[in-house]
Parts: sequence; C-alpha cells; structure tokens
Amino acid sequence: MSDTIESALHENRHFPPPADFVANARLKPEEAEALYRKAEEDHEGFWSDLAREKITWHKEFSVGLDDSRAPHYAWFTDGRMNVSYNCIDRHLDQRGDKPAIIFEGENGDTRTYTYRDLYNEVGKLANGLRASGVKKGDRVVIYMPMIAEAVIAMQACARIGAIHSVVFGGFSADALRDRIDNSGAEVVITADGGTRGGRVVSLKKTTDKALEISSGTVRNVIVCKRAGNEVNMTEGRDVWWQDLVADQPADSEPEWVESEHPLFLLYTSGSTGKPKGIQHASAGYLLNTIVTNEWVFDLHDDDVFWCTADVGWVTGHSYVAYGPLAIGATQVVYEGVPTVPDGGRWWKMCQAHGVTVFYTAPTAIRALMKLGDEFPGQYDLSKLRLLGTVGEPINPEAWMWYYRTIGGERCPIVDTWWQTETGAHMIAPLPAVTTLTPGSCTRPLPGIVADVVNEEGESLGPDQGGFLVIKKPWPSMLRTVWQDDNRYRSTYWPKFGGKYYLAGDSARRDPDGNFWIMGRIDDVLNVSGHRLGTMEIESALVAHEAVAEAAVVGRPHDVKGEAIVAFVILKDERPTGTAAEEMVKALRDWVSEHIGPIAKPDDIRFADGLPKTRSGKIMRRLLRSIAKGEEITSDTSTLENEAVVTQLQGKA
Ligand code: WT7
Repeated sequence: MSDTIESALHENRHFPPPADFVANARLKPEEAEALYRKAEEDHEGFWSDLAREKITWHKEFSVGLDDSRAPHYAWFTDGRMNVSYNCIDRHLDQRGDKPAIIFEGENGDTRTYTYRDLYNEVGKLANGLRASGVKKGDRVVIYMPMIAEAVIAMQACARIGAIHSVVFGGFSADALRDRIDNSGAEVVITADGGTRGGRVVSLKKTTDKALEISSGTVRNVIVCKRAGNEVNMTEGRDVWWQDLVADQPADSEPEWVESEHPLFLLYTSGSTGKPKGIQHASAGYLLNTIVTNEWVFDLHDDDVFWCTADVGWVTGHSYVAYGPLAIGATQVVYEGVPTVPDGGRWWKMCQAHGVTVFYTAPTAIRALMKLGDEFPGQYDLSKLRLLGTVGEPINPEAWMWYYRTIGGERCPIVDTWWQTETGAHMIAPLPAVTTLTPGSCTRPLPGIVADVVNEEGESLGPDQGGFLVIKKPWPSMLRTVWQDDNRYRSTYWPKFGGKYYLAGDSARRDPDGNFWIMGRIDDVLNVSGHRLGTMEIESALVAHEAVAEAAVVGRPHDVKGEAIVAFVILKDERPTGTAAEEMVKALRDWVSEHIGPIAKPDDIRFADGLPKTRSGKIMRRLLRSIAKGEEITSDTSTLENEAVVTQLQGKA
C-alpha cells in the first residue's frame, strides 16, 4: 500500500473554505451547485452554452458534441475561431496596457509584456513564419528555454493555424529528433541557449545534432538570441528570430480555423518504447483551460498568477501559454531553477511580483521543504491567497508544510488531477466550495463524469481500488495519437466496450466521495512529476553496445516521488568493483544523452540474467520488491533462474 493510500484511510484533517475566500470567489457554492445540476441534466448543452459564453467565435457553431466517430469525439464542429485571437486580441480594448507576462530570467533580467506588447510580438512572428512558408496545418517544433518568447512562439503558431509541438528543453538530441521526425515538422523554433541552474543550456547545438540524424523534413530553424552563447548558423536554413521579425508588421490576420483544427501535439510516455504525439483540438481545448482557470484558480482581474511549469509539459500549455491569457490574467514566467542563487528564489519572486495564486508540483514542494523554513521566512508572502499542486499525489506532510509555511494557513490548496491527454483539470477542488483533505484531489469538476470501476466497468464503493475512468467525452480531451488512431483506441478505449476513457491511473474514493490517486496501471513512472515509460529507458539502455538486456522499474523516493532503478545484463560477464562503477556511470550518461537528464537511472544493478517465469516473462513485481529493498518472501522456485535474485539484491 502506498503512503498516500495509507493516509487516505487515516487522514482526518479537513479544511473547509475560509469565509472571506467564499465571499469573493468567482464560483460561489450556489453557482457551483447550479453548474453541477445543469451538467447532469444536459451534458452537451452544458458545454455548448459555456463555449458560446467563454469563446469569441468568428463563426458560431450549431453542433455541440459529434459522437459519430466515437471514440474520436468532436466538439463545436461547424464553428470557426482562433485561439490566439481569444488569448490576445479580444483583450486589447479593455486590457491593452495590462501586464500579460512578467518575465524574469535566472540571471535576474526582467521584462513585462502588456497584452498590447504580446499582440505586437506574436503578430510579427506570425508574419515571419508565414513569410517562411509556414501554412495552416504545418508542424512547427518549439525547443526553447522557459522565456516569454516560448509563449510568443506558441501563440504565433496558433495564430496562423500551424500545429506546434513543444519539446522540453531538457530533452536530448535523440529525443528531439524522434519528435521532429514523428511529427514531420518543417520548422524548428529554438534559442542559442537558456540559463538553468547557473549554466547555459546550448539548445541550438542540440538542435543541430538532432537535425544531423533526422530524416530531413526541417526546412528552417528560427533561433532566438537569448543567452549570447556562440552558435553555428547554417546558411539558407537558419535565421535569427530577431532578424526574421525585424521588418514584419505587428498586425497579422488570424487564421480562422475550424473548432477541431489541431492546436498542438505534445509527446508523452506510454507503455511502449516510443512516446506518442497527443493531439489536441482548438476550441474544446481552449474552453476547458478557460473554465478551469476561473473555477479552480479563481483568477480575478487583479490577480498575479504564477504556474512554475515549463512549456515543455502540458501544464505549461494550459496554465501558462493559453488559459491565463484567454481570461486576460497577469502571470509570472521564470526561466530558471528554484535554487539559484538560493532556495529562496521562488519566494523572493512571489514577494517582488506580488503573486497571489501559485501553482507548482509536489516534488518541488518537497525539495524546498527540505531546505527549511528560513528561506520562505525571509519574504513577505502575504499576498498569496490560493495555492495549487499537480503531477502526482502530494503526501500530507508536504501538503501541511505548503499550507502553513507558504500559505500562512490562509490559502486553500487545490490539488488538481489531470493528464496531458485531458488537456485541463478534471478532478480538483472548487476553492470556495470544497472541503479539502490533504492528499486527495477531491471531486470531479462540473461536466466531468469520473468514476472508479472494476474490470467489468461497474462502479466501486468507498475504499475499493479500481480503474479511474471518465464516462462522458469532454471538450478538451485528446482527439487521437498523431497519425496513429489504432494506438489511440487501444491505449485509451481498450475496455468497457470502448465507452469509457481509461486514464491509466488506479484510484479509490473515500466515504466522503473524495478521489485518491493510487498510481499508474501501466509501465509509466512518475519521476518529479514527469512521465517516463520504463520501455523507453529500456530501449535506450539496450541500444548501448555493452548491454544485452535491461528491465526498468520505479521505487519510492522522498523528493522525486519515484526513482528509476535499472536491472542490466551485459553481453560480457557481470562487472564488479570499479569496473561496475565505471559501467554504471557510462550507462547513466548514455541514457541522459539518449533521452535527457530526467531519465537517468538512480540505481543500476547488474546480474547474469533477469528473473523470468518459465514462459519467459520478466517478473516485474519481483523486480519492484528488489528495488525497494524488500525481503523476498514469495516463492521464487518457479523462476527460470533463481540465483539471479540474490545477485540483483546485491548479495552475491
Ligand atoms: C499523470 C499525468 C497534468 C499535468 C502534469 C502531469 C499523475 C497528475 C496528479 C494529482 C495524483 C497526479 C497521474 C496522471 N497526476 N496530477 N493531482 N494527483 N496524480 O501530466 O505527464 O500527462 O501525467 O500524472 O498519474 O495520470 P502527465
């Protein structure tokens, strides 16, 4: 039983919404009640009415939900709109001079972009992209530091109907190449470099490496000058962003796309060696990012929002690049890590920029909690009024620290469950309505029909663990896996007659109806809130010339949530002593080069073979026990090769 589930059964601390919070909330209890009621009575009408109210349409829609190609659902199909227009242009009259993005670099440089500034910058780049021949439907890979220009690049793509695919700046050349090739991108937008942890990350250099081994769809590379590090520019292919936009006008007509036009692809890990391109549509995606920023983050016009996620992850799409802008909010964007120059950086920035709503991941909270209370104690955090978490279950100890030390026992904490595939929050508190229980993401939002079911698809009662499913389509759901409809259907709709979306998480409900996420049901690890497929890491390991076979599992880790443990069989004999140490280092570096530093195994163990059943199946459950250092009490005599268990435990 995981620690979180343990606490689910014993957790008896409850935090009702503070009265002053309720008084000023955007969604008050009676309004929330009405939303739930309406959604239950008329699911399609509920979402359609919201879409009419929240989105500015170029051409109104008449079809709400189209389920004729289920499970490829479509929403608001005959409408036309533009996401960038909704995020920028429609605010210009009322909020042209309002700060949209307050950017801070790791070295301390700052720049504020008003909505008018964003309009100008996005328009110029959109025109530059058009001048480079980028058309509606073309794929553009964005491989950038966490700087305002990354958001501008995404918005510019949305403006001209190009489909962006953001690749996290920490990914390696191989990982970047895979994503470029799979999407068939024609343009890459990158930067010379960005600063993280006091070092310059040479993104252009990695892009060059990726393009050397890529299948060659890329025509142009647009390079934003940021870190000032030296780069090679390939004549005819590479152009400086600053040069590309220099002569471009700021006005650019938005491409009025159909609601279902793909807005972006975002690659994420699954059960196979290759990440899949999760494909999102335009209008439906935008709608859920808008309503969740209003309902869950309770964003008002005078709030200063800060979501610390990188645009390389879905959180940086829905709660940085799109949702907050679509509702005209002011937000902070930060380039660097939380510990430069010291563990007080985030808290110092909260004070400096007057942050009121702050959203981050449990792994970051645990890491900062370890540094002690002195850092947050040095800064005035009294403007904070709401806190959020995402990415993995938060352990109650970290929850309580966040609540007391950062939130001053004043701020509700919204623990938001969702996925790359869901596009926006699905199960999360409504801060003026929901009584919080540390460690639980609480209840589904209005219009989201989540349940915990057994193998037959039957709802389970309190405290029974089962499959987390979503029983009705919702506007921001993924539409497919890029160019792989079969993978879409077999991954997300394999059970229950193809009627329920299978999230890939196991969960249970407590007697109050609160949801508790128990973990993944597939071979996906959650390392520091990032999804990594065990198969992906295994494929990288076996690509090394010395490796014959590899199996990767997770073990609990007090900061990262899960740590990566690799069991490796070499082609040569099992190394010991310094030879083993050197091989461990070589393999860790190898994985880092092939996927990225986040995928580096924490432990690597060598043996003469992997524990397999007589039918040849790797016994992963046994490997997980070994990784945790548990005593092996189960009978291992059915194993093909019993002796390897002792080797893997490090006892032989
Ligand atoms: C997986 C999705 C959604 C943005 C970040 C991760 C886990 C996410 C929570 C939460 C417990 C959570 C699930 C989910 N997860 N949020 N609040 N409580 N678990 O996006 O990379 O698509 O990963 O993250 O296991 O399936 P992602």
